[in-house]
Amino acid sequence: MTNKKTKRGKFITLEGLDGAGKSTHIPSIIALLKTRGLEIVSTREPGGTRLGEQLRALLLHDAMHPETETLLMFAARREHIANVIEPALKRGAYVLSDRFTDATYAYQCGAKGVASNKVKQLEKWVQGDLQPDMTLLFDVPVEISRKRLSTDREPDKFEREGAKFFEKLRQAYLTRAKENPARFHVIDANQALDKVKVIVDKIISTI
Ligand code: TMP
Repeated sequence: MTNKKTKRGKFITLEGLDGAGKSTHIPSIIALLKTRGLEIVSTREPGGTRLGEQLRALLLHDAMHPETETLLMFAARREHIANVIEPALKRGAYVLSDRFTDATYAYQCGAKGVASNKVKQLEKWVQGDLQPDMTLLFDVPVEISRKRLSTDREPDKFEREGAKFFEKLRQAYLTRAKENPARFHVIDANQALDKVKVIVDKIISTI
């Protein structure tokens, strides 16, 4: 028997407005981390588990009270942490999640007015001490994010919101970044894709 302890993995999250372009960078981030011989678990919220993906379908398409939405986000998150995130981190993998709890603070609190002290309580309950080690916030002006929204499918409930909603959302994300400077990296995503990629690679190489 060996008593060599596995080093805990790292938890990286990607955030931004719908249309900010964050998901475009996932393949190159995975490729970059893989060059270091790391196991990478790429996942998303809401979702990441069978039940979480079922909740995602409800969350993205069914109208509901903002607090119901918050509770379902955290129900999906509990499942995600228990079945995917925590086991991966324990075995030393790097977890890359397309959105996590900062999205709840931005969308449900910032844009929809849910009290942040309620979200704080859920966060503590569901996550304990688990927080991302690094968060990349892809920041773009609202008009740009609207132009970049995918047109090859029907927009979901959040994507159909107006410019005012997205302005609140953007400000809420920037406030989260200011409040958590140690883990947040705000990326100016309003520039050519290859330029954004260089910035992303540089940040990822520091973790
Ligand atoms: P995605 O389109 O980036 O995959 O995200 C799905 C949508 O869910 C997106 O519009 C943001 C929203 N969302 C919330 O409102 N609260 C949350 O906690 C999360 C994780 C996502």
